[in-house]
Amino acid sequence: MQSPIGIFDSGYGGLTVFKSIAAKLPQYDYIYLGDNARAPYGNRSFETVHEYTLQCVKWFFEQGCQLVILACNTASAKALRTIQQNDLPALGTDKRVLGVIRPTAEVIGSYTKTREVAVLGTKGTINSRSYEIEINKFFPDIKVHQMACPMWVPIVEYGEYNTPGADYFVKKYLDQLLLSAPNIDCVLLACTHYPILMDSIKRHLPQGINIIAQGDIVAASLADYLHRHTDIENNITKTGSTLFYTTDDAFDFNNHASVFFGKQVTALQLHLK
Ligand code: DGL
Repeated sequence: MQSPIGIFDSGYGGLTVFKSIAAKLPQYDYIYLGDNARAPYGNRSFETVHEYTLQCVKWFFEQGCQLVILACNTASAKALRTIQQNDLPALGTDKRVLGVIRPTAEVIGSYTKTREVAVLGTKGTINSRSYEIEINKFFPDIKVHQMACPMWVPIVEYGEYNTPGADYFVKKYLDQLLLSAPNIDCVLLACTHYPILMDSIKRHLPQGINIIAQGDIVAASLADYLHRHTDIENNITKTGSTLFYTTDDAFDFNNHASVFFGKQVTALQLHLK
């Protein structure tokens, strides 16, 4: 039986993370699932994000995945801990679900000299305070400034990322951030969609501020994890194949996905039961 690595996101955004993973670890088989029919997750309650994410995680397990990566900050912030602590023991002790927050928190200390960093994310991610908590576990001396940027996901979803409208909303949030946190020297893009706004974000931040997208960090962390967990690594099938699924219209997914993934994909529609 195939045992690919499962990559999950609420929609397209996780493709920015998967792009880095696939580039670094091309030997493995993967299944990507975007829950586009119920996206965005960013404003949804803990209960809802947990319910949707768990349903998708169970589907991955049914496909033979032993390891699932939640390549979505909102799902990592609001569902991962409950899945790991409450759900996984009943689903099989050999199963693993990992997120994107911890790997990022582990390395953020090397990107800041002033020890003041900004975390930008969806309302859900920011209100959960997950980044602040995780970063301070590894680096208690770092002051974490958090800010929700609720307009940025819709701007990207509607393909408006290279427009004056996008620039207006990027500048609006970053001006607010710089006013309230003038000593930051590192800005973490803690939402899978935000790297698509990178050019505009760069234009509106002073030079010398590190802007961190998570893809390469998560890919490096996964490579290290698999190196340390040979029991899991041995079970992953290695034919270099990827299947893409979306819970919404596959034609739409294929039309949007290349912006996030950097190349054309062909997805299948999945009807979750
Ligand atoms: N993938 C989500 C995240 O990284 C952004 C999109 C959404 O709100 O569902 O937080």
